[in-house]
Amino acid sequence: MIDQGAPPQGRGQTVPQAPGLGARLMRRKPVEVLVAEGGQGEGGTLRRSLGLWQLTMISIGATLGTGIFVVLGEAVPKAGPAVTLSFVIAGLTALFSALSYAELAGTIPVAGSSYSYAYATMGELIAWVCGWCLVLEYGVSVAAVAVGWGEYLNELLDGTIGVTLPAALSAPPGDGGVFNLPALIVVLLAMAFLLGGARESARANTVMVAVKIAALVLFCAIGVQGLRSGNYEHFMPLGMSGVSAAGATLFFSYIGFDAASTAGEEAKDAQRDLPRAIMLSLVIVTALYVLVAAVAVGAKPWRQFNDSEAALAQIMRDVTGQGFWATLLAACAVIAIASVVLTVLYGQTRILFAMSRDGLVPKVFSRVHPKTGAPRANTVIVSLFCGVLAAAVPLGQLADATSIGTLFAFALVNVAVVVLRRTRPQMNRTFRVPLSPLLPALGFAFCVWMMGSLSTVTWVVFGVWMAVGLVVYFLYGHRRSRLAPPSEK
Ligand code: ALA
Repeated sequence: MIDQGAPPQGRGQTVPQAPGLGARLMRRKPVEVLVAEGGQGEGGTLRRSLGLWQLTMISIGATLGTGIFVVLGEAVPKAGPAVTLSFVIAGLTALFSALSYAELAGTIPVAGSSYSYAYATMGELIAWVCGWCLVLEYGVSVAAVAVGWGEYLNELLDGTIGVTLPAALSAPPGDGGVFNLPALIVVLLAMAFLLGGARESARANTVMVAVKIAALVLFCAIGVQGLRSGNYEHFMPLGMSGVSAAGATLFFSYIGFDAASTAGEEAKDAQRDLPRAIMLSLVIVTALYVLVAAVAVGAKPWRQFNDSEAALAQIMRDVTGQGFWATLLAACAVIAIASVVLTVLYGQTRILFAMSRDGLVPKVFSRVHPKTGAPRANTVIVSLFCGVLAAAVPLGQLADATSIGTLFAFALVNVAVVVLRRTRPQMNRTFRVPLSPLLPALGFAFCVWMMGSLSTVTWVVFGVWMAVGLVVYFLYGHRRSRLAPPSEK
């Protein structure tokens, strides 16, 4: 589209035409520029300190948490014992998209993850839409996860000292309380680690990930003793629609495998390690999920799952007849979910860092502290936002909308990988999606299928979220973008 509005300046002179709105919305950031800017913030640079091991732990840290410890209990009533299949379907959706993430993370190893991939391939507007979805995937899900943390904390307090926090201090207004204090506390704890720098946070995360994997293995070892083959009969009592509805709910448990891709500017060898970390973490997590779900529905009749918040801990108690194991599991869950908060919060700060460097959000988000190499102001702002959101706002449907936002971003990544193959076929790719464009197309289709399985209310919430995002873009980012011509700023 060409802007016809500018008057000619003189006879016979060709006047450069200002790009029209369509061209401005489609402006792309060249891959080389994205990569060359890697690490650079306002007043300092991010530090490259993370190896394959830490990157894998970041992705597992961000993925394994509330989904298996809490959401499983909500999904079983929808699918029955076939919830194991729901995990496989949600895992396949994640797998196809993970392949695309792996290729792009190896090719464009920057902090912005899918936002940056979209910027390089589909233009600024789509990139913004993607970044706005990532705020749902990361920022809002941190708040939702922090709420789940509080539930397990109560279970732990109950099991150890026999008290639970009063409702007034463990739920927001509208959900029967006044303020969700534990949710705020866990976010502030994560903030303290992140302010210390990426390497310190990664260290703490690695310990927490080891604890959560050990807890799930322990659950399987104990739960297996309570298996009853009768519990697997009527495997799919609510049909395939139940299985896919549970799959869409459980997709939440896979959110986060892409977190390593937000560490592209802090990885020692990003091109080599990011694709490996993404794939490795997804394989480990999927295996654990299917195993834990199979044991859970084998040890407890599916009809007895009643949206309970601490389903796994209850199964431990039922199987052993002792509260000790349930309390131990609750303690591990508290640590497990805290690591999700830490790593997802990390991801959100890095995505905003990249968006800020591009001018689409204020500069304060890309300011780097010279000593720690961490984006300090960014971390404090994001943490306070997420902490208060978790503590004072009944998230309700907004939490469900995290899945739809994530699926949308994943769908875009599947498109981006194909676009980049066409536009830049010669680029050095350390990982290539096999059978492209078939697998990215399948990834796209799975994402759309999962999105279609979510409720109408979730779609409405998502629509409102996107509308707000577009208003913010046109009022701020569009004009402040580093790619905008000076006359527009
Ligand atoms: N996948 C993350 C969790 O389950 C968000 O907690």
